[in-house]
Amino acid sequence: MSALSSHLLEEIKALPAKYPQPRSAVMPALDLAQEELGHLTPEAMSEVAVALQLDPGYVEGVATFYTLFHLEPVGKHRFYVCTNLSCMLRGAEDVVDRLKAAIGVREPGEVSKDGLFSYEEVECLGACEYAPVVRLDHRYEVDLTRGKIDSLVNDRRLVRSHVKTGVRSSLDTTPEPPRKKPVRRTKKSG
Ligand code: FES
Repeated sequence: MSALSSHLLEEIKALPAKYPQPRSAVMPALDLAQEELGHLTPEAMSEVAVALQLDPGYVEGVATFYTLFHLEPVGKHRFYVCTNLSCMLRGAEDVVDRLKAAIGVREPGEVSKDGLFSYEEVECLGACEYAPVVRLDHRYEVDLTRGKIDSLVNDRRLVRSHVKTGVRSSLDTTPEPPRKKPVRRTKKSG
C-alpha cells in the first residue's frame, strides 16, 4: 500500500510541467506530501522521487535541508517563531516562553498532548518591521504580545471543540451553506 494517495501522486506527477527545470517541482511536491501526511516519511519521500523521476537521495537531501519540512510527527498547527535579531530585540524569547506555556511543551518539535500544536525556532521570516513575528501554519502573525499568543492558541482549541460538538466557530473557514434570498415584494403599478 502506498503512503501517498493516488490522486496526490497524480498531482505530483503533473508538477514538473509547470517549471522550466523539472526538478524544481521537488519542493512543492514535498509540501503536498507533507500536507497530506503531516510529516515526510521515508516511504513518502521515495514515492515523490518515483513520481518526479528523481534520484531518491536528491529528494531526501532537499527534505532534510529545509526546516519547513518535517521528518517526525508535528502538531496539526505549527508555530514557526522567528528568533533572529530584530525579533529577539523585540521580545522573541518572551514569545517562545509564552507559547511553550500556552501549548504545554518544553522544547521545539515536541507535540502538545492534544496533538494540536508544535513549534520551531526559525531564522528571519522577512517581516522584521513587524517584529516579533511568527508564522502559524501558512499565515504570518505580527506584533505579537502575550495576549495575542494566548488568543491564537485558544481560538484553535475552540475550533477543535466546535468541530467535535458541531457548533460553528468564526475561525471555521468551511463555507456556510447558501442561504435562501428573501423574496422582495414589489408594488404592483396601476
Ligand atoms: S528578524 Fe524576525 S522577521 Fe526578521
